[in-house]
Amino acid sequence: MRRVTTTTTDLWHHYGRTRAAADRTVPEDFRWSWSQDSGPGPEVLGDLNGRIVGDLGAGAARHAAHLVTRHQPFRVIATDASPAQYAMATDLFGHLAPRLHIVGSDVLDHLQTMARSYDVLYSVFGALDFTNPRELLPAVCTALQPGGRLVFSTLAHYLNGAPAQPDVTHANIPAKTPEGETATLPRWVLQEHVWTKLLDEAGFTDISVDVLPAAEGPRAARTLLVTAHRPKE
Ligand SMILES: C[S@@+](CC[C@H](N)C(=O)[O-])C[C@H]1O[C@@H](n2cnc3c(N)ncnc32)[C@H](O)[C@@H]1O
Repeated sequence: MRRVTTTTTDLWHHYGRTRAAADRTVPEDFRWSWSQDSGPGPEVLGDLNGRIVGDLGAGAARHAAHLVTRHQPFRVIATDASPAQYAMATDLFGHLAPRLHIVGSDVLDHLQTMARSYDVLYSVFGALDFTNPRELLPAVCTALQPGGRLVFSTLAHYLNGAPAQPDVTHANIPAKTPEGETATLPRWVLQEHVWTKLLDEAGFTDISVDVLPAAEGPRAARTLLVTAHRPKE
């Protein structure tokens, strides 16, 4: 069964809620790094003019809102499986329709309806981190146009400093139910060469991985910034 979590409970209910109550603005910046305050920005996505772009695991859709207001894509489709995140994104940025299209769905289900539709797909610590990559990466490749680009940022190691996995294994990380009970959800924190192999097996070409440095601070983390392409025909 394709689920974001191992239960039907929305384990992303609390994520971003405090910020959403205080900050309704479209962010000035789009950053890939864990700290969200430095490093490369949307230029990594390539030329977005007139393009169909998808955010996989968009959360409150702040990155997607930035792209539709500061760049000229034809449309950005921001997909998230969490009902809470979908509601938050719609409340904050629903007024940016139709150039911003907010979808409440598991990305696996969404991508199956979008074969050869996207010019660019991206994820900022989003669905790529929390969905079995053996299922998700082939679906992403199929949803891209030939020559289309995938970019995603993901943890280079666990937040406690433990190294990323040397094979395709997930960890069960702590989460909270809407009622505040303890739960877990799967997170894939994989070494660079594991992502490269998975992407290659899923049909991608021209794969590159950059390591972005950690900022200062207790929960600082290095970021893998991964770029891959569906082969041209
Ligand atoms: C850490 S949050 C990041 C959200 C956003 N990208 C950001 O930077 O604020 C991860 C998000 O991915 C979403 N997600 C995880 N797996 C997903 C899947 N298979 N389909 C859709 N959304 C998913 C979660 O619901 C959550 O909102």
